[in-house]
Amino acid sequence: MLVKNLLPAFVAIGSAAAQSGTCSVSGGTTTINSQADATGLASCRTVRGSVVIGSNAGPNIDISGPGQITGDLKVLNNGLIENLQSNDLTTIGGAFELKNVTKLTTVNMAKLASAKEIEWDTVTNIESVTLGPINKVDDVRISITSLRSLDFLDLGNVASLKLDNNARLSKFSSTLRTLSKSLILASNGIGGIGLEVELPNLVWAVELDINNVTSFSVPSLKTVNGSARFGSNFFQSFSAPNLTATTSGDISFISNAKLTNATFPKLEAIAGGLTIANNTLLDELSGFSKLKSIGGAVLLRGNFESVEFPALDNVRGAFDASSSADISDSCEAFDKLAPQNEGGNGAIQGTYECTSNNTQANEDTDGSTSGDGSSGSGGDKDNGAASMALNTAFFAVIALAGFAVAL
Ligand SMILES: *[C@@H]1O[C@H](CO)[C@@H](O)[C@H](O)[C@H]1NC(C)=O
Ligand SMILES: *[C@@H]1O[C@H](CO)[C@@H](O)[C@H](O)[C@H]1NC(C)=O
Ligand SMILES: *[C@@H]1O[C@H](CO)[C@@H](O)[C@H](O)[C@H]1NC(C)=O
Ligand SMILES: *[C@@H]1O[C@H](CO)[C@@H](O)[C@H](O)[C@H]1NC(C)=O
Ligand SMILES: *[C@@H]1O[C@H](CO)[C@@H](O)[C@H](O)[C@H]1NC(C)=O
Ligand SMILES: *[C@@H]1O[C@H](CO)[C@@H](O)[C@H](O)[C@H]1NC(C)=O
Ligand SMILES: *[C@@H]1O[C@H](CO)[C@@H](O)[C@H](O)[C@H]1NC(C)=O
Repeated sequence: MLVKNLLPAFVAIGSAAAQSGTCSVSGGTTTINSQADATGLASCRTVRGSVVIGSNAGPNIDISGPGQITGDLKVLNNGLIENLQSNDLTTIGGAFELKNVTKLTTVNMAKLASAKEIEWDTVTNIESVTLGPINKVDDVRISITSLRSLDFLDLGNVASLKLDNNARLSKFSSTLRTLSKSLILASNGIGGIGLEVELPNLVWAVELDINNVTSFSVPSLKTVNGSARFGSNFFQSFSAPNLTATTSGDISFISNAKLTNATFPKLEAIAGGLTIANNTLLDELSGFSKLKSIGGAVLLRGNFESVEFPALDNVRGAFDASSSADISDSCEAFDKLAPQNEGGNGAIQGTYECTSNNTQANEDTDGSTSGDGSSGSGGDKDNGAASMALNTAFFAVIALAGFAVAL
């Protein structure tokens, strides 16, 4: 098939192109169904278009020769290939896709340093990956794999990074500096609950959606341009020691069952809402010592014994705090910030509620019922809470998918 495709292409391009080592095929896709097809590419320096390794190729495919593939390199729905190799490939202009490649154990492309996207999904036998490492890539998604390490990624500035359902991945440590779209983590590690994350150089990120991790360290993080959501994690403490603001989104912590201490010592402004709900061991909420301004609504639900926001002087949306314990001292302080028609100074512009002894305080993580069990008082509650509920449903689906591969 390859030979059939290549021949007319060479004829069409003529000898100049062949001498410069550029090979292209009509239709833009070269399909490799055997090692012989792969060897047919060995004299090309650059392959114009995409290379697809067909579902019957394997067990060993070596595509050494080309230094560059201008389009994608894809292996799809292949249950035969075990080893994929290239000694020369440095650049993939499009996506490096491995999807439903269930026997693949080794990828060895020691010069590969650049690809527009990495998209690996259902690569359930992979043991060893050697890349350049990859240091130039826009988007990375690694889902449902047996990878134990991601050392083949040397990330600096990326748009998006999503890691989910990688059952053997217990640690992710990266020199990542900026994330112009999102970081999404869910259901990694044994049982989906074992990932330690260290991002010592991360300075800003647009979206953080962090689920099921055992630790999350971001000592340099200064700005979250969009939202940061932390759901069902297993860390006891979380700190964003350098975070000063979210510039257009929410902060939420929902159902982090072991969390006892969350600190944001430099955080002054949250552009969207703040939701802290169902973190049942978090009994003192006092980590927001500098927080002055919240652009959306505030929803605080838990077993708090005290809740303190000593610097708070502007909440554009509703403020709704409710605890299973007695927080009447904390409520007294917030009463002073209540809307003027409720006797406060008007710092809180939406509806205001602060209640104690609410046995159902942890049952509502999206503000759909009010603290004292009476029906909600309306008002401005349109913060990130609703989108979090959607996210939770979404991750529940991936989590289920993950159990299919788990060990
Ligand atoms: C995965 O690939 C196998 C071949 O190895 C194929 O039989 C199966 O249908 C593919 N699964 C999906 C969901 O495409
Ligand atoms: C995010 O915020 C940082 C710090 O203000 C800024 O340098 C960066 O350009 C912003 N990124 C985006 C994508 O808005
Ligand atoms: C925290 O921010 C300050 C001021 O921007 C900076 O000088 C310092 O290096 C940052 N700390 C870390 C650990 O990045
Ligand atoms: C993983 O996180 C998701 C979303 O936050 C949650 O729905 C799920 O229950 C968590 N899984 C475990 C095992 O905690
Ligand atoms: C609260 O968190 C626990 C885990 O600690 C979880 O089992 C429960 O479903 C959560 N409740 C809600 C309403 O999300
Ligand atoms: C909470 O965490 C902060 C920062 O990591 C630390 O300084 C503080 O001592 C912790 N507080 C408690 C009660 O553990
Ligand atoms: C909460 O319950 C405790 C114990 O029953 C009671 O002493 C306290 O007055 C109650 N607080 C409020 C604000 O209702």
